[in-house]
Amino acid sequence: MSEQATPHSATEAPEQPSSQDRNPVMPRLRRALDGIPGYRPGRPAAPGTVTYKLSSNENPYPPLPGVLGEAVRAAESFNRYPDMFCTGLTAALAGRFGVPQSHIATGVGSVGVAQQLLQATAGPGDEVIYAWRSFEAYPILTQISGAASVRVPLTAGEEHDLAAMAAAVTGRTRLIFVCNPNNPTGNLLRRAELERFLDRVPPEVLVVLDEAYREFVRDPQAADGLELYRDRPNVCVLRTFSKAYGLAGLRVGFAVAHEPVAEALRKTALPFGVTQPAQEAAIASLGAEAELLRRVDALVAERDRVLAGLRGQGWTVPEPQGNFVWLRLHEATMDFAAACDEAGVVVRPFPGEGCRVTVGEPEANDLFLAAAAAFRKAG
Ligand SMILES: Cc1ncc(COP(=O)(O)O)c(C=O)c1O
Repeated sequence: MSEQATPHSATEAPEQPSSQDRNPVMPRLRRALDGIPGYRPGRPAAPGTVTYKLSSNENPYPPLPGVLGEAVRAAESFNRYPDMFCTGLTAALAGRFGVPQSHIATGVGSVGVAQQLLQATAGPGDEVIYAWRSFEAYPILTQISGAASVRVPLTAGEEHDLAAMAAAVTGRTRLIFVCNPNNPTGNLLRRAELERFLDRVPPEVLVVLDEAYREFVRDPQAADGLELYRDRPNVCVLRTFSKAYGLAGLRVGFAVAHEPVAEALRKTALPFGVTQPAQEAAIASLGAEAELLRRVDALVAERDRVLAGLRGQGWTVPEPQGNFVWLRLHEATMDFAAACDEAGVVVRPFPGEGCRVTVGEPEANDLFLAAAAAFRKAG
């Protein structure tokens, strides 16, 4: 039964909490959680204004009609639990990528799969290596696991320092995240350099190639995790339906890895985590891939236009291979983000470092380019 709030007049002092209420004994929580920064999602556009959200690397296109139809049809049975093993989706993915079904593991977004990977490999006393700055879920998930983060700074050219990452491996290293293309800097590791790195990593250390933005990559020398993993049992590839496929809100991602790793991921999965609408939409997306990827082509063309526009204005921008661009702004970061806000585009600032800006619909990109030009002139 809900309690009725008792109104009191403005002059009536509210009851003081007892000293016990002020210092109540709380459940004991894991020390490992102390100081974890909360995950900061990209800020939404303000309601009621013409504002574009370029802060979360989302796909600006609405769902394809066929994909939406499948999700809606599946939603009609949401009194039932979903297929816990994502059977249909696993078969569709195996067929699409030419890998055994036993090499596929699904999860609640690829960030969910990343958490499963950490649960499967690392705990207190272990170490997890990743470049920094990179995807901001890595430090959070690592800390939750109880393992220690080993952050290897990006090079001056904003690239993974693979030599330093290989040198950082110790007897305690359990997992290495390699984000390719890197979020937020957008640049790419090429096949030859990644192979050299993988050759240096001991076979008992799992290397996770996070390829959330793979479909936007156009560099012909790009490393493709699905080729690299085949003869390397310690390589696991992470992919997602959130970006190119435009299903961010449905939360479905997957890993491709050799059987022992994929099996461990099935053990650490949240039971029934991937909903049936998400599973059906993902299967339908694979069926509608040609059309979906045409949209990706359009975004890549916009990315090239934004890049040319920024460089034409005099900005230094690392070669973007995802659906976003990176501007290293240092102490001007927050001013730049505020200027973009005022112009009607919400970008993603990393205070003191720079801004990541998603490539959106052409009108949004125009507003962003105009704001960037004005900021440069004013500066
Ligand atoms: C590099 C990288 N990996 C993984 C993800 C997570 O994607 P999701 O959990 O939606 O699949 C993101 C999202 O921004 C990302 O940038």
